Amino acid sequence: MKHRLCLVGALSTLILYTTALRIATSLQWIEHTPQRYAIEHFYNGSSRAQLVSGGVNNLVGDNSFDLAANAETQGLRQLNGRRSLRLIYIICEAQYRIVADRTRGIEAIGDLRGKRIGTIPGTSAGYFVSKLLGVSGIQPNQYSVVSGNACMRAPCGQGTFPQMMQGRQIDAFGLWEPAAEISIRNLGDNAVVFQNGSVYREIYSLYSTEEKLANPSIRADIVEFVRALEKTLEVYNDPPEGIYAEVAPWVGMDADVLKGVWKEHLWTGAWDDWAEEFVEYLVEEDAYLARDGNRRPIPRADIEAFLDTSVLAEL
Ligand SMILES: *[C@@H]1O[C@H](CO)[C@@H](O)[C@H](O)[C@H]1NC(C)=O
Ligand SMILES: *[C@@H]1O[C@H](CO)[C@@H](O)[C@H](O)[C@H]1NC(C)=O
Repeated sequence: MKHRLCLVGALSTLILYTTALRIATSLQWIEHTPQRYAIEHFYNGSSRAQLVSGGVNNLVGDNSFDLAANAETQGLRQLNGRRSLRLIYIICEAQYRIVADRTRGIEAIGDLRGKRIGTIPGTSAGYFVSKLLGVSGIQPNQYSVVSGNACMRAPCGQGTFPQMMQGRQIDAFGLWEPAAEISIRNLGDNAVVFQNGSVYREIYSLYSTEEKLANPSIRADIVEFVRALEKTLEVYNDPPEGIYAEVAPWVGMDADVLKGVWKEHLWTGAWDDWAEEFVEYLVEEDAYLARDGNRRPIPRADIEAFLDTSVLAEL
């Protein structure tokens, strides 16, 4: 009897496991939350959808994943090794900010020369800092990069960028939210902010693979998931007051801080009105990643194929 129960349990676990739409995503950042909102409010697939902590590297390396969400930086890094990776939807365009401390002699972006700047190398934030400083004529050898950690809620712990600003271990930092917002609030009148979304914004996207998209039953659920994300974007673009209190606990934030950084995130979905610009943007970013990773750039044709509008077209 006991064995039989175990077997039934194991089988039902197996069935749940194999029929769920599995999505690898970081569960700690604001950008991922439309996916949870979509699942809880709108998703009507053939089985449940399940968010699993991870990213686009999991989608590429583990066949049990159907989708992944990550910044375009991580998408390009994985596309290099797996050319059948597909970017099918933009969940969020996040305009990062560099926060600097005026008392360190920083008023204009040029004043960042010679300073200690916090960011996380190898991520979208690392690229953002080098890009924004680069267009301002500041070369990588003209400042020092200091690694550290994000913070979702004050008070921020040891080794986080807002805390390192307060401890004067860095003069400025560039990272995704809400670390920037928390630091701006800490600095008060001494906060100086640099941001330019046309130079760089994170394009936090949903990915699948050519193989998964070719499977009719998986594809049908992926289409349903994107349909639910589209409904979510309507809500996120016209946020009811209650949304901050609903979403903030999912990422360990205070609702008031989430409300403060909402406008730094554009909830966009499709890219049909700037398709060529998007290719150009990725080609340029990949050239940087290729230099950084000592590899060849990905051919433009592969980047064009990477941007797959076929799921959006099915809605
Ligand atoms: C952002 O950068 C673009 C391209 O370098 C530039 O044309 C534009 O003026 C900048 N915007 C702001 C607000 O600085
Ligand atoms: C899923 O079904 C419910 C109930 O019929 C509906 O309200 C919701 O809009 C549907 N979701 C999508 C994404 O169409």
